[in-house]
Amino acid sequence: MANKYLGITSGLIVTMLLLTGCTMNLHPELVKRSEEFPGSKKCGECHIDIYNEWAGSLHAKSYVSEEFRVSTNDYEFKFCLGCHVPETIFTPDGTDASQAEFVEEEKKPRTHNLEDGVDCQSCHLTVDCMLAGPHSGMGPHPMEKKEEFYRRSYLCGRCHVETFKEYLMNAHNNDHDKTCQDCHMPAVKRKLIQGEPWQRLHRRKEGKAHTFSSLSAIKNSDGFIVLSFTELSNKNNQIKGVLEIQNNMPNHSIPTGSYGYREVLLLINLKNSFGETIKSKHESIFVEMDTQLKPMEKRKYPFAFDIDGTNKAAKELEAILFRTDFNRTNKTLLAKVESKIGTP
Ligand code: HEC
Ligand code: HEC
Ligand code: HEC
Ligand code: HEC
Ligand code: HEC
Repeated sequence: MANKYLGITSGLIVTMLLLTGCTMNLHPELVKRSEEFPGSKKCGECHIDIYNEWAGSLHAKSYVSEEFRVSTNDYEFKFCLGCHVPETIFTPDGTDASQAEFVEEEKKPRTHNLEDGVDCQSCHLTVDCMLAGPHSGMGPHPMEKKEEFYRRSYLCGRCHVETFKEYLMNAHNNDHDKTCQDCHMPAVKRKLIQGEPWQRLHRRKEGKAHTFSSLSAIKNSDGFIVLSFTELSNKNNQIKGVLEIQNNMPNHSIPTGSYGYREVLLLINLKNSFGETIKSKHESIFVEMDTQLKPMEKRKYPFAFDIDGTNKAAKELEAILFRTDFNRTNKTLLAKVESKIGTP
């Protein structure tokens, strides 16, 4: 019975929408810019998949993050809040800046739903209280199609200022037509809503997962970073060689960004036939020290291990590159290579 009524109701809604040719506002609270907005969880009642992806991303933690709380002296530095809990990324005059140049101005912080960080409204609520996106749609809230803005890197550049500057600076490199979204929001074809009754009324569309992760970016840019051993030799009680790192990514440095702890660590390990590491060297690649790998840069790290009693059994070399944090607890593997060692 309930299902039948649902069918009739949704049928009626569709007819009404088709007749008016525009969207209705069944949920005025969704476009409120105050405590009346129930928070991103509400968007998640219909946009279930997108909500779950976003909730697992660092954007959803940009305010509650312990590092952020500490580094703002318990949220005292108001300047910091504009990017971590913005009202919206649209400029006060409503610019969605389809131009390539960069509008660098402060974003107004919210006073409500702070724990949602960079929330759904941050990226989707325009100054005239529409929910904008790349498609034209029909639904229970006001919508506006702004395809160009949503498909361009500039949107991310509103907050990722330094990374976007790197990106613009390298615009002459090949393969530059890839946007931030192409690598960091993997393409998916699906319905934009999974909640009832709305999901019955809509077909699948070309959309983007809201994971915003570097892991999906690594998968999306296969071969973006290549490690190789060259000039290997094993003589005079010394194993030496050169490790080459090639950053094939034309878009930004590794690591990138300007806030928080930005380190990539290179380990070169000497291993025995049991696969155990017997000697190890490491190099830090830091944004702060300006040692990050620039787009398309190739860098050489010469190394040498002295052979003594303990490492006569050396059989293999291994190089690992990973992104890490201050406590070295989180590690994201970026690239890896192995090479057998010739006999002396
Ligand atoms: C409203 C400002 C804002 C916008 C717009 C924005 N970001 Fe972010 N982004 C942040 C903040 C703040 C963080 C840091 C969150 C944290 O680590 O607590 C972040 C973190 C990230 C991270 C994780 C970085 C890391 O250290 O692992 C990625 C990847 C990312 N954003 C990609 C994007 C992409 C792609 C876009 C465009 C589709 C985008 N962001 C748009 C503010 C923004
Ligand atoms: C009651 C259900 C419901 C809720 C709650 C809801 N939406 Fe929607 N939304 C829809 C439907 C239905 C569409 C149209 C989908 C389609 O055209 O395929 C839509 C479309 C959109 C679009 C347009 C996408 C595009 O490019 O066409 C955006 C952006 C959007 N919603 C954002 C939000 C945000 C942000 C929230 C929370 C503030 C929210 N929605 C809450 C049902 C909902
Ligand atoms: C060609 C694919 C590609 C494009 C285009 C791209 N990225 Fe990345 N991005 C990556 C990869 C791969 C990583 C992981 C390597 C790293 O951590 O530095 C990454 C890392 C990041 C990180 C840091 C995450 C971390 O763990 O340090 C941020 C922030 C980021 N990208 C933002 C952006 C923004 C903003 C843009 C657009 C201006 C963009 N990216 C364009 C592939 C891409
Ligand atoms: C950091 C900015 C950012 C945040 C936060 C964000 N979105 Fe999006 N959203 C985008 C971008 C960029 C696109 C366009 C992707 C494309 O199609 O190229 C998009 C697309 C969409 C679409 C259209 C369908 C699609 O996949 O393209 C919907 C619906 C949507 N977002 C809803 C939401 C909801 C709901 C939330 C909160 C749970 C949210 N977004 C959070 C940037 C964001
Ligand atoms: C222009 C936008 C912007 C402003 C202003 C801003 N941030 Fe961020 N913040 C970001 C982005 C984007 C990231 C993601 C990493 C990156 O790209 O640097 C981030 C990441 C961070 C992180 C790492 C988060 C984590 O959980 O690891 C910390 C800590 C941080 N910011 C602190 C601050 C402090 C403190 C201020 C004020 C002095 C500030 N931010 C102001 C955009 C901003």
